[in-house]
Amino acid sequence: MTTAPTDDLAALLAPLHASLTCKSLKAPNRFCMAPMSRYFAPGGILSDEGAEYYRRRAAAGVGTIITEGTGVAIDHTVAADTVPIFAGDEPLAAWKGAIDAVHAEGGMFVPQLWHVGGCIDFNFPDSPHAELVSPSGFAGPDVPGGRAMTESDIADTAAAFAESARAAKDIGCDAIELHGAHGYIFDQFFWDRTNLRDDRYGGPDIADRATFAAEVVAACREAVGEDFAIIMRVSQWKTYDYDVKLARDPDEMHRWLDPMVRAGVDIFHASQRRFWEPEYEGDPKNLGGWIKEVTGKPVITVGSIGMDRDLMQDFVEGISSPMLGRLEDLVAMFERGEFDLVALGRVLLADPNWLEKVEQRRIDELTPYDRATALKQYEHG
Ligand SMILES: Cc1cc2nc3c(=O)[nH]c(=O)nc-3n(C[C@H](O)[C@H](O)[C@H](O)COP(=O)(O)O)c2cc1C
Repeated sequence: MTTAPTDDLAALLAPLHASLTCKSLKAPNRFCMAPMSRYFAPGGILSDEGAEYYRRRAAAGVGTIITEGTGVAIDHTVAADTVPIFAGDEPLAAWKGAIDAVHAEGGMFVPQLWHVGGCIDFNFPDSPHAELVSPSGFAGPDVPGGRAMTESDIADTAAAFAESARAAKDIGCDAIELHGAHGYIFDQFFWDRTNLRDDRYGGPDIADRATFAAEVVAACREAVGEDFAIIMRVSQWKTYDYDVKLARDPDEMHRWLDPMVRAGVDIFHASQRRFWEPEYEGDPKNLGGWIKEVTGKPVITVGSIGMDRDLMQDFVEGISSPMLGRLEDLVAMFERGEFDLVALGRVLLADPNWLEKVEQRRIDELTPYDRATALKQYEHG
């Protein structure tokens, strides 16, 4: 089931152990835990087990922990009542426990700030939630979702992101990540199928549709100051369309991302289902490689590292098995300067010790991932 490219996996991955500093983020190595929703925060409060779950990944050598998506300081931020919130005394006290635990292991702690826009929760569609809002009343193409936002909704939402960003800095996080990917609020503004506005937040050019994101980034920047790192996660794919390309060529990619760069993004997290896939025909660079080239910013790459199937195939086919055959490609891409950090998703959800096991070539001990894993409370360590 598992093919390993070389006998000495520790030597292969050694370049990824170089540290990286970007403002407040002082990553001890290039490995990050990808953001993964777990839905075990009743009332929006991360449990002690949740803090321990993150601590174990840091203890096993993952340099930067990016948390599951966590709501910001406004009632319409998420659509399930078991998603943790990054606002209010009790939720922040719980997060502080996780931050301290990860820091004690030498890891960096980065909350992923999430607003779902007009999307109900796909995992818990019946969960109670506040009235949702979205750019034009759509969650997907011709899929109604949320009330169309007024300009004052937009201002309040930007202020809510800024309040949670400031809280993150105040309680000791090392950076924040804004969830601009996968069809949620930022993406609903980016995409012309869900943003039908005729004010300054909409328009035929993707640069116009990036105005909301740029304003949120600017509000966060003002809240956290110049020296605190802001990461923006983006993707081409959305839950409503895996094949769509927001940016059809590098020029359009520049028009999409440049407003966010000018507003203060420090790092882009390029969410892709399979990291080895070229973004545009005729050039091997993946999404992250292109983002790095057009923005000049450091990037995080991600997508099926250590797994034989991608995230979406799991939904259909049920199980992904360990597969190490592409690690050489990953390291070669790193050595060509095509990414700066790499996020590991399902391999770390299934097994906190994935990295150690790989580097020690304990291949028979690697754990497959199946969809049900994510809904079992921290059973896998
Ligand atoms: C259970 C689960 C929950 C996820 N939740 C989030 C999330 O909250 N925010 C996000 O940006 N991506 C989320 N993702 C996507 C992952 O961050 C990652 O991009 C994806 O799993 C691909 O990486 P992998 O192939 O290494 O798993 C989730 C993925 C899984 C498997």
